[in-house]
Amino acid sequence: MHQTRNKKSSDHSAKPPMSSLLLFVLLLAAKAGTADSVPARPGCQALCGGVEIPYPFGIGTICSRKGFEIDCINNGSAGEIPVLPTPDQNIRVLHLSVSPFPEARVVLPVAWQCFNSTGDVTGSYAGDVDFNREGVYRISNTQNELFVLGCNTYAYNNGVRVYDSRFSYKYYTGCITVTNDKTDPRDDACAGLGCCRVDIPPGITDTSMTISGWSHANQEFCPCDYAFIVEKGNYTFKASDLISNNQTMPLHVDWTMPLRLDWAIRDNGSTTAVSCAQAPNKTDHEYACLSNHSECINSTNGPGYFCNCTQGYEGNPYVVGGCTNINECQYPQRYPCPSGSKCIDTNGGYKCKCNLFRRGEECRPIIPMTVVALLGTFVAIFFLVLLLWFIYMDGKRRVKRACFDKNGGEVLKEAAGIAIFTQEQLNKITNNYDTPIGKGAFGSVFLGEINEKERVAVKRSHFENKKGGQLQQGGEFVNEITFQFQNRHPNLVRLVGCCLETNIPVLVYEYISNGNLYNLLHGQRDKVLLLRTRLNIAIGSSEALAYMHSHADRDRIHGDVKTANILLNDNLMPKVSDFGSSRLLSTAKYATAVAADMSYIDPMYMMTHRFVPKSDVYSFGIVLLELITRKTVRYGKDRSLPVDFVKSSKEKGNARELYDGNILSHDGDQCHYCGECLDKIGALAVQCLMYDVDDRPTMAEVVDELKQAANLVDNCKQRAIVSQHTVAHV
Ligand SMILES: *[C@@H]1O[C@H](CO)[C@@H](O)[C@H](O)[C@H]1NC(C)=O
Ligand SMILES: *[C@@H]1O[C@H](CO)[C@@H](O)[C@H](O)[C@H]1NC(C)=O
Ligand SMILES: *[C@@H]1O[C@H](CO)[C@@H](O)[C@H](O)[C@H]1NC(C)=O
Repeated sequence: MHQTRNKKSSDHSAKPPMSSLLLFVLLLAAKAGTADSVPARPGCQALCGGVEIPYPFGIGTICSRKGFEIDCINNGSAGEIPVLPTPDQNIRVLHLSVSPFPEARVVLPVAWQCFNSTGDVTGSYAGDVDFNREGVYRISNTQNELFVLGCNTYAYNNGVRVYDSRFSYKYYTGCITVTNDKTDPRDDACAGLGCCRVDIPPGITDTSMTISGWSHANQEFCPCDYAFIVEKGNYTFKASDLISNNQTMPLHVDWTMPLRLDWAIRDNGSTTAVSCAQAPNKTDHEYACLSNHSECINSTNGPGYFCNCTQGYEGNPYVVGGCTNINECQYPQRYPCPSGSKCIDTNGGYKCKCNLFRRGEECRPIIPMTVVALLGTFVAIFFLVLLLWFIYMDGKRRVKRACFDKNGGEVLKEAAGIAIFTQEQLNKITNNYDTPIGKGAFGSVFLGEINEKERVAVKRSHFENKKGGQLQQGGEFVNEITFQFQNRHPNLVRLVGCCLETNIPVLVYEYISNGNLYNLLHGQRDKVLLLRTRLNIAIGSSEALAYMHSHADRDRIHGDVKTANILLNDNLMPKVSDFGSSRLLSTAKYATAVAADMSYIDPMYMMTHRFVPKSDVYSFGIVLLELITRKTVRYGKDRSLPVDFVKSSKEKGNARELYDGNILSHDGDQCHYCGECLDKIGALAVQCLMYDVDDRPTMAEVVDELKQAANLVDNCKQRAIVSQHTVAHV
């Protein structure tokens, strides 16, 4: 066997390499296509000479079902080949298949009969081969046809012996062919001239032929007749197969033809074979269809049955577990799914699962595509808005941070004791700025409460949210805040903290409970105000101003001294507010902000547009006038308090007619009247209101003068007490 293989391979090497390669590829392809799906019995040889031997076929009786035995023989130069075992002759097997149709391709000898020149038969062969002793095969009537070649002959095949009938056999099938002229037969033309052919009926069990003994006298050109059944399309007539030239005699004694056999399970013999209906029940070991997922099918060519895997399964139904599930999803061509779906393999079938938002047999979209598109757009817009919102919030945060930095947040943080608030904290402290308590040059003032304990006044600039709300440069601001924080005076409103996250910082001051001097003087006219009380207020606030003016290193000017900016606590102790506003706002803005109350403004400022400490002195002069007259700056019918007072003082030496009558005629006071004191204060006020800055006293001098006036009042009291005593003594 080894030797023959070697020989075969050397044969191959003699051929052109291209064709051997092609053969190799074809062999591989043939193997890959079927080898796995058609198993032999376990432990049995599955291949012989490149031909698969699926059960019920097998080599040897143990490996095969009865009647399906195959021999694997060594055929010399051809190597191993599978053959049907027959007593006299080997019938070569080309192919065996179990599904989808039970079929065997074999090679069978051609029947012949030859004549001499006088027309006598010199030899013949009927073509009968005993390959079908168990009767499992039938010659396929659909795949084969019968050919007769001859010049004056007929041939037929007959089969199925019948008794008590007009004829001995159930069928006879063949054809006649006659030709007198050796030029008549033509290649490719099998139509009576030298060649005839005919379809065959089902049920044929062998290829033995009966060939006529009609005379071939004077037909030397046509020495032999042939008859055979062959696979359709495999044989085409050639005149040279029949007609003899002098050179070559067409004597095809060993001529063979390939043909297809149907096979079936016919255990009880050819005539008494069982059908599916009669087949033993499935547990019987005789029953051939052993695999799960297999079915029994009645043979259409002869009696008996065969097996097939049920739909969705493939393989060999004749062995246990032979039918296996087909993974249909691997062959989308053969097992299609509609677009928009996914193929899912199941046992014995497959499903097409529609993709998301698709339904029905054809997996059409549930929602029209336009709606899907619309929905998608909405979602996209939603996320875009979300994104923009984030960007916006981030922007705000950045602005806050930028303001914080610009306003010197980092520097202020390090200055111990200054509370730095965030905007959120301030919103909470002021309950979203719901209680306004006033307006200053710097902005609106709101009441707030820190930790439900300490009440505060929160000052927010008018310009905060407006474009152009320009602040003094950051460094300036830090200096001012720090200065205010470090320089405390009992008569100055104390700075508690600030918020730096806005363009113009928000300032948080201590809350002064009892309103301002303006309201006390002009809003509550019934309230008795002793002269000494008024003087205390004047002294306290002038001291605060003098204290600030005393910082010689820089100009510390209030810039907006007026009764409304002098706050009072429960003991009527004055607290000057709004200090430093002029520094926190740019000069132009500040001028606009205080313009509403021009009455207090130093006329010098109007010319120079510069505040000097003496500007505060001028404004304080007006405060003094209000204190002693209890009149507003503009009073009566368009009267001006400073103008009237100064005029009156110049003309009469004093302006007593303008003094508050309440002071003059109050009888609760032990000192009923201290005209001297009032005149002194009036004179001081007039001094403060001098047009020429140099003629005005400094704030410190104002404090001194007021203290002297206070002494006068106190002395006056004492004198009054003394005089009362004196009266008593008298
Ligand atoms: C087939 O033959 C077996 C024995 O050869 C016999 O036992 C069986 O009954 C037969 N079946 C039929 C349906 O004839
Ligand atoms: C065997 O089954 C396959 C698949 O179910 C089918 O295509 C084929 O026609 C069947 N064979 C016969 C002979 O019915
Ligand atoms: C065949 O099917 C039966 C019942 O459905 C089951 O019990 C048995 O295990 C299956 N055999 C194989 C080889 O799958």
